[in-house]
Amino acid sequence: MARITLDGVSVRRTTADGEIVALHETSVVLAERRVALVGPNGAGKSTMARLVNGLVPASSGTVRVDDLDVAEHGREVRRRVAFAFTDPRAQLVMPTAGEDVALSLRRSHRDKHARAEAAREALRGFALEDLHDRSVHALSGGQAQLLALASVLATRPDVLVADEPTTLLDLGNARHVAEVLLGLPQQLLLVTHDLELAARCDRALLIRDGRVAADGEAAEVVEHYRRTA
Ligand SMILES: Nc1ncnc2c1ncn2[C@@H]1O[C@H](COP(=O)(O)OP(=O)(O)O)[C@@H](O)[C@H]1O
Ligand SMILES: [Mg+2]
Repeated sequence: MARITLDGVSVRRTTADGEIVALHETSVVLAERRVALVGPNGAGKSTMARLVNGLVPASSGTVRVDDLDVAEHGREVRRRVAFAFTDPRAQLVMPTAGEDVALSLRRSHRDKHARAEAAREALRGFALEDLHDRSVHALSGGQAQLLALASVLATRPDVLVADEPTTLLDLGNARHVAEVLLGLPQQLLLVTHDLELAARCDRALLIRDGRVAADGEAAEVVEHYRRTA
């Protein structure tokens, strides 16, 4: 399990309306297996999630994954921290499912045959082996999200950051992807509006107006959010 540390971190952004503070000075340590970030639109959830692998730089303070400073060791951090986007099609870049997984294995498996075998194995892990030769454009939303997860997890990162990974899915697919996420051996930092899913995590943070408004046992934080939304 990794230890994700935000130490006095703020994020300021310049917009057409002037400067905004997307995250006010925040210090928090995340070391539980499954941590949910909940809160209204524009609260700063994605900003916080993206800080963890350096997709968003901190304006002040430091972000660390164990002892690695994200600002200094971005590449190493990104090898340990995978990121899943809301729209899986944003990260599926190869023609077929098998090739897409193989692409993320290009550094860890230099040998072409070993790489192809590892890609099949990764697909099997998500019960996607039948999609190996399927065009990534011919997948359903649920299949595409599972494939995106299989691709980013194929290199066995320690942490998965997932930003609303079930938002675009229908009920059945959202449920299936949710079960897969909760069952992952990796540490999970999950941004979600699915409050039932959030409540099943080990810890939740309620983000409001760029601040941590509540933090604790997931079901209690979700209940607090429901009462005060
Ligand atoms: N690329 C961007 N450029 C300018 N402002 C942004 C950008 N992305 C987000 N913001 C602003 O930063 C704040 C936090 O956004 P975000 O972290 O995306 O919130 P959430 O994920 O909780 O909906 C909001 O005020 C939002 O409008
Ligand atoms: Mg967001």
